[in-house]
Amino acid sequence: MYTPDFAAVRLDFPRARTAAYFDNASSHPLSVHSAAALHRYVEWLTHEVGEPWWPQWAASRDEAKHLFAQLINAEPREIAFARSTVESESNLLNGMGEFLAGGNVVTNDLHYGAALYNYQMRKQDGLELRVVKNRNWQIELGDMAKAIDQHTRLVSLSLVSNVNGLLAQVKEIAALAHARGALLYADIIQAAGAVPIDVKAMGIDMAACSTFKWLMGVKGFGFLYVRADLQNTVVKPTQHSGGVRQNYAPWTPAPDPALSDFSHTPVPGPHCYEVSYPSYEGAVCAHESLRYILRLGVLHIRAHVRGLAERLQEELPALGYPSITPRGNESSILAFVSPNPEATLARTRAAGVHVAMRYGNKMRLSPSVYNNHDDIDRLLAALN
Ligand SMILES: Cc1ncc(COP(=O)(O)O)c(C=O)c1O
Repeated sequence: MYTPDFAAVRLDFPRARTAAYFDNASSHPLSVHSAAALHRYVEWLTHEVGEPWWPQWAASRDEAKHLFAQLINAEPREIAFARSTVESESNLLNGMGEFLAGGNVVTNDLHYGAALYNYQMRKQDGLELRVVKNRNWQIELGDMAKAIDQHTRLVSLSLVSNVNGLLAQVKEIAALAHARGALLYADIIQAAGAVPIDVKAMGIDMAACSTFKWLMGVKGFGFLYVRADLQNTVVKPTQHSGGVRQNYAPWTPAPDPALSDFSHTPVPGPHCYEVSYPSYEGAVCAHESLRYILRLGVLHIRAHVRGLAERLQEELPALGYPSITPRGNESSILAFVSPNPEATLARTRAAGVHVAMRYGNKMRLSPSVYNNHDDIDRLLAALN
């Protein structure tokens, strides 16, 4: 059976030589392979004649979509290019106006801050919002069950929380939502590439992410998943982009009398959510990194990271950093309470260790494929 050589993987990420970098949940470094693909594209833009949508680059763009569909077990016809996670969730809400009207939306306080802000702002327009609060940094199923009722139209969550890495009990929550006629949206930016995702088995109806975290790509480019039967029905496009045929002189020498002056064919499938050209820089990078991730295998990636995460869960509390991530949680993000955030940051910085300090005193660590036990040794030595 194939098992990746993670020592070789480390060589693919030069940032591993710059620092013991534990902040992949903020932004993941590019591999040398994705960087090379991006360089090739930039070279081509600089020297060659042509358009990015010519076959050479359009093939990468389209294959990126197929590979992403494969990664989350969706069909390519359920995937649109997107610019960002937060924008996608907002666009979905805008397009679901009729469906949401008169109902409520349920989310929880481990969802992403900007998404929660988006919902708070919509309360001004009459949205009924229910935010389930965590208990000891976990979301209790019973609390979600209480909040979701027959008026709930949408349940929105982060599949993996950026706060403490909590992997949502998405299958169970989706079942609660579906039993009441509601849909489930998952923000998958902290999950895609790091944990296995099967939108069908998990009951995820809509999802979005951009590529600069566990998809090892760049900002401003990502993917939106909308279940096929919801497209253009429950989830309407809110911006339009397509072509119009002018059926009169001087546009055409032989106007077709059966057609009106202006005619158009609605863009099919998920393209209805795409406006303007996608970022080809993003697509080229995503294409290369998705190939890389699928080659390694998400299960192998997770197993490697879990080995590192378990050690952090074991050793940091003993150094006075209690964990706010449940033991055995299967994501790549962990958070620990620092007794003295300024001192922690000063000591880690001096040791060439990069951690994130969030919400005052929560030290977030997010190891990835190229991290190893030497990195952890360095972190522990700095904190000890
Ligand atoms: C859970 C989560 N959602 C969304 C975002 C923002 O992503 P985007 O820039 O694609 O909107 C982040 C991180 O920045 C995040 O951690």
